[in-house]
Parts: sequence; C-alpha cells; structure tokens
Amino acid sequence: MTTTRTLYLIACAAPPALRLAVPIRTAQAAGWDVCLILTPTAHRWHTDDPAGHLSDLRTLTGHPIRYEYKLPSGRDVLPKPDALLVAPLTNNTLHKWAHGISDTLALGLLTEGIGLGLPTAALPYWNAAQARHPAVRRSVAELRAAGVTVLLADEHGGPGFVPHEPRHGNVNAYPWELALAALPDG
Ligand SMILES: Cc1cc2nc3c(=O)[nH]c(=O)nc-3n(C[C@H](O)[C@H](O)[C@H](O)COP(=O)(O)O)c2cc1C
Repeated sequence: MTTTRTLYLIACAAPPALRLAVPIRTAQAAGWDVCLILTPTAHRWHTDDPAGHLSDLRTLTGHPIRYEYKLPSGRDVLPKPDALLVAPLTNNTLHKWAHGISDTLALGLLTEGIGLGLPTAALPYWNAAQARHPAVRRSVAELRAAGVTVLLADEHGGPGFVPHEPRHGNVNAYPWELALAALPDG
C-alpha cells in the first residue's frame, strides 16, 4: 500500500517564485501531494504583478495557498507536512531562519521544522554580491549544522545553486532538479 506524502513548497520573493508550476508538477509526478506556501512578499508578487498566476497554482496543487498565519480560532487547512522544500530561498529569509525568527508563516514552518526534525532542503537564489556578505557563510553553516540540506555551491562541496553576477540572473537555469533530488525517498 502506498501512502501519499505531503511536501510543503515554500517560496520566497526572488525571480524563480514566478515559475512554481515546474517544481510542483515534478514533485507531484514523484508522488508528493504539494502544498504551496509563499512569503508575504512573494504572495504580493503573485497578486499585484501581471506575471503572477496564483489561481493556476491553487488549481494545480488542489490546496489553498497560504502566506500568513491563521487567526487563533482558524482551522488548519493543509495536511501536515512530511518534508519541507524552500525554493527559492532569499537572502532575507536565510538569515531570519538561521536566527530562529518566525514573523512570517513561511519562517514559522521553517524554524519549527528544524525542531520537529522534518527533512528540509533549501535552494537559494541570490547574486554573487549578496553571497559575499560574511553573514551568508555563517547562516548557511548554522542551518547545515541543524540538519538542513542547503543546496549552495560553496566550499561545502555538494551540488547547489551558483550565485550569478548582479543583474545577470537566469531563472531558466535555476536548478529545480537539485531541490527535488534532495527530497527523501518514499
Ligand atoms: C525584482 C526583485 C528581484 C529580487 N531578487 C532577489 C534575489 O534574487 N535574491 C534575494 O535574496 N532577494 C531578492 N530580492 C529582494 C527580496 O525580494 C527582499 O529581500 C524581500 O524582502 C524578501 O522577502 P522574503 O524573504 O520574505 O520573501 C529581489 C527584489 C526584487 C524587487
């Protein structure tokens, strides 16, 4: 008997957040029930920018798309996650997560996910100038030490995202396949 596993895809406000149908379809083909969580800024990109396509994504996942905490009396509208994938991971959410800050629903799930021991993979998207800030190395090391698979090509040696020069990002080259390969096997 196969049981459906639930993946929370958590997307922050970087350009690949406007290409989410690709990883959703791939994860679904691998047997995941995918629930989409957006940061508030990524949600605004989808609702206020003509490039957004939130209703298509809701149809694709079959679940409400969450981006803010529920009210105290609100009920849970999503199944519990078996794994978390944060992609694209922004510089902003990286540092807040590493410091245990949980002022968005996305960060609440990510910080709690570490404590729950949920399998968690993170695929960054930021430029080389952002990457050279000394805090990046510290935050990435902190999250790796806590068990998060941070898919950043660096001295760690594993496969991962290679930061581009400022204004030379290429969303078509964003390596979604690395993120999906980092998810636990069924
Ligand atoms: C057009 C545009 C592109 C951006 N690209 C990136 C990016 O590639 N990586 C990144 O870390 N932040 C990027 N940012 C900045 C983030 O959107 C910003 O830090 C935001 O506060 C992130 O919020 P979140 O982490 O809650 O999603 C971009 C902002 C804009 C307006």
